[in-house]
Amino acid sequence: MKILIENIKTIVGSNPAPKEKLAGKEMSQLPCLDNAWISIENGLISGLGTMKEGMPEKAKFDKVINAESRFVFPSWCDSHTHIVYAGSREGEFVDRIKGLSYEETARNGGGILNSAERLNKTSEDELFESAMGRLNEITKYGTGAVEIKSGYGLSVDGELKMLRVIKKLKQHSPLTIKANFLGAHAMPTKYKQNRQEYVNLIIHEMLPVIAKEKLADYCDVFCDRGFYTIEETDAILQAAAKHGLQPKIHANELDYSGGIQVGVKNKALSVDHLEFTGDAEIDCLLKSATMPTLLPSTAFFLGLHYPPARKMIDAGLPIALATDYNPGSSPSGRMAFILSLACVKLKMLPEEAINAATVNSAYAMGVSNAHGTITAGKTASLFITHPIPSYSFLPYSYGSDLIETVIVKGEIRLT
Ligand code: NIG
Ligand code: FE
Repeated sequence: MKILIENIKTIVGSNPAPKEKLAGKEMSQLPCLDNAWISIENGLISGLGTMKEGMPEKAKFDKVINAESRFVFPSWCDSHTHIVYAGSREGEFVDRIKGLSYEETARNGGGILNSAERLNKTSEDELFESAMGRLNEITKYGTGAVEIKSGYGLSVDGELKMLRVIKKLKQHSPLTIKANFLGAHAMPTKYKQNRQEYVNLIIHEMLPVIAKEKLADYCDVFCDRGFYTIEETDAILQAAAKHGLQPKIHANELDYSGGIQVGVKNKALSVDHLEFTGDAEIDCLLKSATMPTLLPSTAFFLGLHYPPARKMIDAGLPIALATDYNPGSSPSGRMAFILSLACVKLKMLPEEAINAATVNSAYAMGVSNAHGTITAGKTASLFITHPIPSYSFLPYSYGSDLIETVIVKGEIRLT
């Protein structure tokens, strides 16, 4: 379909020569184009410019959208989710209200192990259907690219089942999807006394099949207190690298776990969570190409303290933002709420939050060439807002649905 969007009040993130990531002071620079048009052909942004300079002949297009008083944003890139899961965990949510911590729940066999038990009893088709429903939901919220992890299987069959579901989602969903293998999400109860046996299972039984069947793009480990140690993480990531899988890992959510350092050592594309980030971790990240990714809805939902985003940006680091959509610690895939949390709780400026959820989160999932900015030649995945006064209105108006039209790969998905 050929689409022309005309009379756009402002194109946000309009950049003819985008950098692949933005760090430090660069994060507060958000290029915009006022009173503009965008043309879409063959799933790509074919052109853009100002109304004053003149736009292409309207008759050439199948559809013309008048975006007067409206803003156009590049689709959000949600670079960290766990949206393939079975059942919900609101019981644990109520336990937490009564005083039980996330770690206590996990130690009692709840948490990730609770989701794993349910997932292993659920068929591939059911998992596919429910995950597809979540993808449709986040499409309406303006997400155009999403990373999805395994990690609720925790057995050879369960992990492969999850990754096959993700592969099928890639084939059936219009969204851009990356798969991340998270066999080391929690230690299954039966291996608690012999952890190495499960690590061996990941290295010798899971990774070779995943590589052979091309079931994952990345490899993850939950490297934190009470979950996987630095040594276990290192061994798994080194084995994954031999199969061509780059790390994107969970680190420093619960403690100064060394997760950031072991991620950087293994050339992780991103290290995610980072509630516990001090000077040593910042120094280590500054010397790397790894994207620090913050998931503020997890701190919000679990009542943890927030990561020191301001300190990180002021030290010159880039930051990406993602939802962590999962049934335990962040049961929501609404990126706009993440931006509001980033502004209110992490003290990020709206410009920084928007760049973190587009340019930098595209980098954090390896899709910068196609997503993250409004640039001729990139994938036409974008959204048009309702009439709003400014781009800051989006994180400010934290409970409202401000998206009127969603376009994914050149096709209208919501209007
Ligand atoms: O990113 N931190 C580890 N994993 C998930 C939680 C998953 C769960 O509780 O089910 C997270 O928060
Ligand atoms: Fe996570």
